[in-house]
Amino acid sequence: RKIVSVIGTRPQYVKAAAVSRELRKQFHEVLVDTGQHYDYKMAGVFFEELELPRPDYNLGVGSGTHGKQTAAMISGLEELLIKECPDGVLVYGDTNSTLAGALVASKLHIPLFHIEAGLRSFNPKMPEEINRKLTDHISDVLFAPTDTAVRNLRSEGITRNVLQVGDVMLDAVNYYWSRSKDAYTPETFGLVREEYYLATIHRAENTDDPIRLKAIVEAFIKLETPLLLPLHPRTLNRLQTMGLAAELAQSPHIRLIEPVSYLAMLQLERHAKGIITDSGGVQKEAYFAGVPCFTLRSETEWTETLSGGWNVLVDPLRDDLSAIVARSGIPAVKSDVYGDGRATRDIVDHMLEWYEGYPLSKQVS
Ligand code: UD1
Ligand code: UDP
Repeated sequence: RKIVSVIGTRPQYVKAAAVSRELRKQFHEVLVDTGQHYDYKMAGVFFEELELPRPDYNLGVGSGTHGKQTAAMISGLEELLIKECPDGVLVYGDTNSTLAGALVASKLHIPLFHIEAGLRSFNPKMPEEINRKLTDHISDVLFAPTDTAVRNLRSEGITRNVLQVGDVMLDAVNYYWSRSKDAYTPETFGLVREEYYLATIHRAENTDDPIRLKAIVEAFIKLETPLLLPLHPRTLNRLQTMGLAAELAQSPHIRLIEPVSYLAMLQLERHAKGIITDSGGVQKEAYFAGVPCFTLRSETEWTETLSGGWNVLVDPLRDDLSAIVARSGIPAVKSDVYGDGRATRDIVDHMLEWYEGYPLSKQVS
């Protein structure tokens, strides 16, 4: 059977690297990259380093407004899916690439599988919240990572073919961990273990609001501890436009660098004193690594990371990041809420079952 997987952004390359390996044991996968991310450090490096198969198609959509970007993806994907005539379409997460893949598959009546279903921030202004809700409501099979995700779906009336499988990013960490250890150390970046913070920022709510972005920059400057900041191109653009990049770069404890590769990121995360982020994936990776996380947002979809104090929500406009970071310690307990690292295998097994018409095991009703 033929499955078209639609990806297009950095976190989707990581997730697909884990899933694709399992999927290809049972299905013929046609990999489609929408080209939403295109810089080598946001896209190409992941294909090389993670040995993600070369995409069969790259739609080359690139950046744009939500409307233009999503429309170009829809148009490209429609043509492609009509030509390829697959038995299913697989989408990941909550980006514009996810929504485009979901809409086209659904309108062409091609079975739609959604990995990372059921996540909710309950913030209707977040573009990702719109993408994930719409995708969940038109998916045929929903792979939910956590209990919370299953509950969120149930509260919206989605109970059919919802399968709790754990988080595919945990499978990715487990698979790539030893390679990452062999390839990088914090010293590669001139850092001393446990003596630096690692930060990533890219959420629209932080980058596109000049007051918020300035508050984040000021909080970073006040931190006065070595801080490595691999900058998403969106953030670099905004900082430059606002004249804040120079201010950051002049602070002796801050190092601005280009986005790093996944294998480098895993080591930088593991040996950090703490991680400051607004990324969904990085919040989870901090939890997997057992490193305290400070999330510069008002809410998180990954609510499990908050329990025990592993992750703390910090409002850059109201809260004092340095004081919160200084007060934090390593919490005592951590649970395996994100599964047992078998999510990718479970997903492929359930997909096989679904095609065979068996009642899906582990189904939540
Ligand atoms: C997108 C996703 C977000 C995800 C993030 C992962 C949507 C709505 N957002 O956000 O959910 O968390 O990816 O990183 O789908 N740019 C480049 N080079 C690139 C990619 C982007 O320069 O290779 C710059 C462009 O100026 C672009 C901006 O970054 O306009 C934003 O890129 P876009 O893909 O629209 O959204 P992200 O912020 O990356
Ligand atoms: N990541 C990376 N290099 C970086 C920043 C992030 O490899 O410089 C990885 C990170 O380890 C995680 C994924 O990218 O696996 C998260 O992607 P991102 O933060 O862009 O998106 P989100 O998860 O918020 O959607």
